[in-house]
Amino acid sequence: MTTEPLPEFPAGFRWGVSTSAYQIEGGATAAGRGPSIWDTFAHTPGLIADGSTGDVACDHWHRHAEDVALMAGLGVSAYRFSVAWPRVQPGGSGPANAAGLDFYDRLVDDLAAAGIDPVATLYHWDLPQPLQDAGGWLHRDTAARFAEYADLVAARLGDRVKLWITLNEPFIHMSLGYGTGEHAPGRTLLFDAFPAAHHQLLGHGLAVAALRARTAGPVAIANNYSPVRPAGDTDADLAAAAAYDALHNRLFTDPLLGLGYPDLLGLDPGLVRGDDLAVIAAPLDVLGVNYYNPSGVRAPEPGSPLPFELVELAGYPRTAFGWPVAPDGLRELLTGLRDRYGDRLPPIQVTENGCAYDDVPDAEGRVHDPDRIAYLDAHLRALRAAIDDGVDVTGYFVWSLLDNWEWAEGFTKRFGLVHVDFGTGARTPKSSYAWLRDTAIRPGGTR
Ligand code: NOJ
Repeated sequence: MTTEPLPEFPAGFRWGVSTSAYQIEGGATAAGRGPSIWDTFAHTPGLIADGSTGDVACDHWHRHAEDVALMAGLGVSAYRFSVAWPRVQPGGSGPANAAGLDFYDRLVDDLAAAGIDPVATLYHWDLPQPLQDAGGWLHRDTAARFAEYADLVAARLGDRVKLWITLNEPFIHMSLGYGTGEHAPGRTLLFDAFPAAHHQLLGHGLAVAALRARTAGPVAIANNYSPVRPAGDTDADLAAAAAYDALHNRLFTDPLLGLGYPDLLGLDPGLVRGDDLAVIAAPLDVLGVNYYNPSGVRAPEPGSPLPFELVELAGYPRTAFGWPVAPDGLRELLTGLRDRYGDRLPPIQVTENGCAYDDVPDAEGRVHDPDRIAYLDAHLRALRAAIDDGVDVTGYFVWSLLDNWEWAEGFTKRFGLVHVDFGTGARTPKSSYAWLRDTAIRPGGTR
């Protein structure tokens, strides 16, 4: 890690932390919450690395006041959380469950009292189970249900939320949830998962319209991006890299920004009806960018069902997840989005970036996480360089405030600035928490 001071960020830059409902809340049946696909998936033996569920998670349901105080102590100006659809519509449709919305109502008030902007994600993968029973995102009607749910949330919170995010990482939800089955709902459809892409996008577009009708916005979507590095320069490797880039980086963003679906993917044209593409391309105020790592890609073995093969990238240190630590990828990604989309690209906020390490308390109970400090330092320098390159980036959110329930990895991957003892729920800020506060958010106590 360099000893050069971290460069300053523009005045008004939004510093935040991100979480999601199922990963932190617990309270699985509290205040009338219904089951989601992740309750079903986590409770199916053998699907989660440590056999755990999100039934209690970080117990944020009971400890949200303490968690807001931790954010205030960190000095962030924004908090990105998600609203659990099964709290608002336990059966997936119909009128709002007021008791479920009460929780978020209190949360946004507490945030406002602490001077923190609430940034609300409407869908972070926790589809009400009854909607899955009807086909989930493979079913076109789920898009309409999502817009109705968005309307209910906007009616209650729309006067206070400072940025709406419709969907979180629809690519990951489609590919791991419907393509490979590593995530809920556990379908293994490979390329037959594409309807889950189109219907999420349609749901996004319809939700944007619902949000615009109720609130002053602004509105965003949070996509996961991964710069693609071909393993070699053969035509076959380059074609494989282009195919993977179209799938991971363009499938959602091209239609969102008015370019339609990438040709390379051979989508079933019957999926797209009427003015779907215009609905999907509703103007966005912000593009949310989640970045973790680049992808190495080479040509597939003959007979492979996929047009590419993912390979490990050599030469990078790795997190506890095994993901390469590649801050250069963040700058490449941000400048690449600008170069690819030009004037179509709205201002960007990095809505997630972070790393998992095996952080353990020392004998005095302190948690030192120098690897996370180095990771954040390097990624913030890369982000600043992209701003210097002329990319309009107006915010950065660390994933995550707390160690939490990391989907199929259960409690085995710790991403937090704050350590959580999953037995007692006790929170301990790690050394990265103080570093972020004193070095990035308010260097010299100025912000
Ligand atoms: C992105 C997802 O949005 C979040 O839920 C997850 O915990 C992080 N990546 C880390 O894998």
